[in-house]
Amino acid sequence: MMLTVRNLSKAYAGRQVLLDISLTLRSGEKMLLLGPSGSGKSTLLACLCGLAQPDTGKVTLDDAPINDAIRRRHFGIVFQTLRLVSALSLSANLVLAQKLQTGRSDPALIAHLLERLGIAGRANARPHQLSQGEAQRAAIARALAVRPAILVADEPTSALDQTNAAIVARLLADLADEAGAALIIATHDERLRPHVPRTLTLAEGRIAA
Ligand SMILES: Nc1ncnc2c1ncn2[C@@H]1O[C@H](COP(=O)(O)OP(=O)(O)OP(=O)(O)O)[C@@H](O)[C@H]1O
Ligand SMILES: [Mg+2]
Repeated sequence: MMLTVRNLSKAYAGRQVLLDISLTLRSGEKMLLLGPSGSGKSTLLACLCGLAQPDTGKVTLDDAPINDAIRRRHFGIVFQTLRLVSALSLSANLVLAQKLQTGRSDPALIAHLLERLGIAGRANARPHQLSQGEAQRAAIARALAVRPAILVADEPTSALDQTNAAIVARLLADLADEAGAALIIATHDERLRPHVPRTLTLAEGRIAA
């Protein structure tokens, strides 16, 4: 499996956010997308998953253009704003994602992920009853619950202190390995660098050498 971005550019209201970005991500690879706030990380991730359209350039998974069906089938996404469903318990959030993306639920996988992420005791809590760090881990569990080929995480450690950020970064890498998934983490946090083998730095819309 290979995700390929070729010569991607995108502007909002005439202001260029991404400029001629090219990258590849293969099965099992892990990549950190590092850049300051406003550098276009979330925009690039949205284009990678087919949630936003580039102005020029293309994104393909094994040569097929990204679309909604490919995203549902192959991507697990940890959104910067988490987007947990507030009316549902943590475990029901995971069941819903599995049903929507894979067509069936897998209670054993859900139990395993909640355990691995240290939130098994919060399975029946609703999102507003979780601490910010617990909610972030819940969003990570939900992304992995669909057995994605590609795990995309946007600022997954923003609410965590240094120690816990390092723990969650390691856990993301380990869980991606366990699942055989590729991993891309977007962050402004330089401290995650040691936990991910490859770093791409976004600056002024381009990937710095
Ligand atoms: N829907 C939109 N309409 C107009 N401008 C947008 C839109 N989304 C993002 N932008 C602008 O594009 C730029 C890049 O935003 P983006 O969210 O991709 O940055 P980021 O690197 O993820 O930042 P952060 O670290 O704060 O999450 C910002 O200047 C932002 O204001
Ligand atoms: Mg962002």
